[in-house]
Order: sequence, then structure tokens, then C-alpha cells
Amino acid sequence: MIKNRNNPRSELFAHRIIDWQQQHGRHDLPWQGADAYRIWLSEIMLQQTQVVTVIPYYHRFVARFPTIAALAADSEDAVLAHWSGLGYYSRARNLHRTAQLIMQRHEGKFPQHFEDILALPGIGRSTAAAISAFAFHERRAILDGNVKRLLARYHAIEGYTGEKKIEAQLWQQAEASLPKRDVAVYTQGLMDLGALVCTRSKPQCPICPLQADCMAHQNGLVAQLPTPRPRKVLPERHSTFLLLLNGPDILLEKRPGNGIWGGLWCPPQVDPQLLSRTEDATAYCRQHFGTETIHTIALPTFTHTFTHFKLHITPLLLQVINKPKQIQEPGMMWLDVDDALQAAIPTPVRKLLQEIQAGRRLM
Ligand code: ADE
Repeated sequence: MIKNRNNPRSELFAHRIIDWQQQHGRHDLPWQGADAYRIWLSEIMLQQTQVVTVIPYYHRFVARFPTIAALAADSEDAVLAHWSGLGYYSRARNLHRTAQLIMQRHEGKFPQHFEDILALPGIGRSTAAAISAFAFHERRAILDGNVKRLLARYHAIEGYTGEKKIEAQLWQQAEASLPKRDVAVYTQGLMDLGALVCTRSKPQCPICPLQADCMAHQNGLVAQLPTPRPRKVLPERHSTFLLLLNGPDILLEKRPGNGIWGGLWCPPQVDPQLLSRTEDATAYCRQHFGTETIHTIALPTFTHTFTHFKLHITPLLLQVINKPKQIQEPGMMWLDVDDALQAAIPTPVRKLLQEIQAGRRLM
């Protein structure tokens, strides 16, 4: 007799999730039942971002880039502009590059085999598994942040879930829990349970279909699990943003392809130590941009937190009074503030431009 390698507890786990998903899970997400391209796009957008935030971005993105071919043929700048505000911009650059790669290597068709999907830029093991499950109904295990939390609680696994050893245990549980069929419903159910019931704070244990045999629940450990990430003090950096205003226009420069905000448009950034006095800023702008400026106003410093460091930003507002030389460098441009808001800009720059726009309306 062939023995079932799954133990009854894990079969029960999967069946409960499938039943729960069918009755209480999400069934109207715009990418559900869509083609592999749309599923891939949604999974990339959802990697670091919540569903409610993703939905409008997803609709705008597929309206502008309806196919892999359309995405591959458009410019990186257009792709980044449609990502502007979602953060983690390497996701957008990878998406664009991957679309071009799919045109070259897979004749424009999203690959079906798990190994081929996993080999694409920006796609890790869990994302490849989610795409395989949703688009091709393959039996593959996912392990995103929500699923880590759910499994850590269900099996009462202690230790930081980002740690190699703990992660390996969680992958083992994720693989062992896969149902024999209905893998797409099961995968969606895991995601839905993690996002809606087994939440980080205030989990809804009374309505959870796994409550009866959740080890954390049985042992009063739900609030302690998953074990939080060991606290690390983030390094801090400082930057001055030169907001050079010339009539309706602002000066923007394109950030280098890698590094923070790679490929996005930002006001010129300077080390604040170079500009300890107002006159320094005036001289700097004359030297670097050929502009004569007045009315240097320092706006309040604010902080933007990245994964690996904190950036303290001091915006300096400078009014240009001469007609600046035409900028020859390809990575620099004067752009109408209204148009700049449609360009590929990071969120703190968007906020500053909106403040400038609001200030103008009051004038
Ligand atoms: N998070 C990651 N992928 C998701 C999906 N397909 N649906 C809902 N939330 C998700």
C-alpha cells in the first residue's frame, strides 16, 4: 500500500483553509483568474505593498502596458512613472527588464515551468510558487511575510522568521501542508487568512478556521509569535534637496540606475556640509547649474526611512532670477511642476512638489 506522506494534521490544515477561502476569502481581486502576465505583475506589486494600495496602480499599469510585448517596448521612464509612489523601484526596473527577456527567450509568452519562472529577475522562490499556483495550478508552496506569521503561530515556531534556520523550518512546514488539489484556492486562502484573520496585531482568533489546533493559540503564545526581528539601529544620512524654481519649472535630475530611487527624477541633492550658509547654496547653484538665485528658504527637515537607513531631508527653496543656460546633460531637465508630478518621482519628492503647487495656489 502506498503510504500518504502527509500527516492527518497537515491535511486538515489545508482542507480547512480551502473551505474557509471558498466561504470567506477574497474572490474579486482584479488579478484573480487573469493571465500569467497579470498574475506576475500583481505578485510583484504585492511583494512589499498591501492590496488596497496596489489595486489602483495595477489598473493603471495594465491599461498602459496591456501585454508583455507592450511593457517590453516602452521606456523604463514610462514604467517607473507608473510605479511612482509604490516604492522599492527595483521591482519596476526588473519587471521592465524581465518583459524584454521574455520577448527574447520565451517568444513573449510568460514561461510555464517553475524553474524558468524562478530564473527571471526579481522573482524569488515564494513569488515563483504563487505565480505557478495561480496561473498554472502547479503544486508549489509559498512563504511570504503573512504566511510566515501564520505558520509560526500554527506550529508555535519561535525565533525570528528572517533567520535562515527558522525560515528553513517554515519552508518545510509550507511544503508539507500543500493539498493534493485546489492549490490555487489553498494559496489564496493562506494569503487571505494571513491578511484578514491572522494579522500581526489583534488577530481574529475566534473566527479563525485553524483555531482548534493552532499551537500558539493553545499555548497562549499568539501575541508573542512570530518572534520580532532583532532591533537594529538604522544608520542615518542627511541630504539637502535644492528646489530650484524658475517660473512654472523645477530642475530635476535622474538618479543613477542602481542605488536608492534608481532611475527616478529628483531635485539635485547635496551634502548639507557643503552648504552651511545660504550664500553657499547660491554659489553652488551658480557653479553647477548656471543659475542666479534669490530667496533661499530652508523648509522643515523631514525623515524618510528606507529598509537600511534613515534619510533626513532638508529642502532648500531657491528662486531662479536669470534665464538659466539650456542644460546639456542628458540626466537633467527643467520640468513644469504639474508635469513633474506625472513623472517617475519618489514619494517625498511628490509631497514637496504638491506643497509647492499648493503654495502657488495661495499666491
Ligand atoms: N499578497 C501576495 N499575493 C497576493 C494575492 N495574489 N492576493 C492577495 N494578497 C496577496
